[in-house]
Amino acid sequence: MMLLEDPVLKPEQVPNPDLSMQKAFGLVFAWAFAIAIVIFGVYQMRLSDPYVRDVLSHDGQVARGHAIFQLNCSGCHGTFGNGKVGPSLRKVSTHRSQVGLIDQITSGKTPPMPKFQANPQEMADLLAYLKTL
Ligand code: HEC
Repeated sequence: MMLLEDPVLKPEQVPNPDLSMQKAFGLVFAWAFAIAIVIFGVYQMRLSDPYVRDVLSHDGQVARGHAIFQLNCSGCHGTFGNGKVGPSLRKVSTHRSQVGLIDQITSGKTPPMPKFQANPQEMADLLAYLKTL
């Protein structure tokens, strides 16, 4: 004869709310960690780009960066970088990394902003100027 299971849940079968919370937190943490790793990986990849490394190895000259900006960027971002067609670039280097800025400026991925090709020294100058905004 087969023994039927006791229909009453044994104590170890009762779902433990503490444990499932722990699992949920664990899962959230695991995801956050995975996402952080991916972001870090992408950042490292861009950092190892020879052009980016070249730019970051130069000391930027603010005055020259200012001249480059007036010539190439001020039409959209305003004479003082305070925005026109394009957004204000005030304090832009506090929310964008150097690598992110280089990518933004060289990629032209946000039309109508054009691709801007600059040699590494000019790009470093431009970044130095953007930091002063
Ligand atoms: C034809 C107009 C135009 C020109 C010229 C231009 N930009 Fe832009 N730029 C834009 C627009 C529009 C955006 C916003 C794109 C978007 O929707 O994110 C932008 C976005 C940016 C951003 C990102 C701002 C942020 O808050 O993340 C940076 C940095 C930037 N431009 C720098 C430059 C620099 C440096 C130059 C000169 C080399 C330049 N831009 C030339 C139109 C322009």
